[in-house]
Amino acid sequence: MPTKVTTKGATEFPLVDWPGCRNGYLMTGPKVTADSLRALKGSGQKIAALTAYDFPMTRLLDQAGIPLILVGDSLGMVVLGYPDTTHVTMPEMEHHVRAAARAKPRALLAADMPYRSYDTVADAVANAQRLVAAGAEAVKAEGGREILEQVRAMVASGIPFLGHLGMLPQHVLEEGGYHVKGKQEPEHQALLADAQALAAAGAFAIVLELVTAPVARELTQVVPVPTIGIGSGPDCDGQILVTPDLLGMLPWFSLKHVKPRLNAAEQMRTVVREWKAGVEALKR
Ligand code: KIV
Repeated sequence: MPTKVTTKGATEFPLVDWPGCRNGYLMTGPKVTADSLRALKGSGQKIAALTAYDFPMTRLLDQAGIPLILVGDSLGMVVLGYPDTTHVTMPEMEHHVRAAARAKPRALLAADMPYRSYDTVADAVANAQRLVAAGAEAVKAEGGREILEQVRAMVASGIPFLGHLGMLPQHVLEEGGYHVKGKQEPEHQALLADAQALAAAGAFAIVLELVTAPVARELTQVVPVPTIGIGSGPDCDGQILVTPDLLGMLPWFSLKHVKPRLNAAEQMRTVVREWKAGVEALKR
């Protein structure tokens, strides 16, 4: 028999399958942890991860069986209206992590360390602890060998760490745009060294953003922790998307690597126009 959702006020939701999510229904199974995600390496089970920035989206993604939910600093662009992620602050991340954590997901709830919040080892540990105090169960930061001391210190302080290599959105200003990584041999070698270093430093998984598909495939073969791709081809151990991109909520951004599965922006405009027309047609 399908497991029923027991959350107060909720009934049953038809959901996708995922270990612990029986017959397509929300699982009563164990909480997803960094260790349980890491253990999926080599299991054949792909990891489908998405971003959320608030309570309802976190709850809905969790009810759909998503095992890894990231409060990404894409927050800056998709919720707060900044031109890029370098404007996102620690208080903004904490605010949205608190909202997402109130959904008490079964999924592992990870949070991005904002721009310049992990420049030093002391900053990295203090800011990661602030995100954990806000409700994050893991943190993600961008970079490889250049942030290894910070990664080791965060892991040593008991905070699960998710790596992020390839195109690093927090470097958009220095790099003058969002460029695919791994095309040149030095970049390919640097990605290999960075991914192996992050795994050795204790990262439980590594996001690969805009890495060429062959390099992402090779990294996935050689690195002992799951790779989670975004715009990096089909051969990673998992995939992650920015949820509003998947749902077609932001028609002003057009991305090569995402084919929206819904045109939520147009549907919202239509519903709002129809409702407005109905209100305006009401008799006095
Ligand atoms: O900020 C974010 O949403 C991310 C994902 C794109 C992986 O880092």
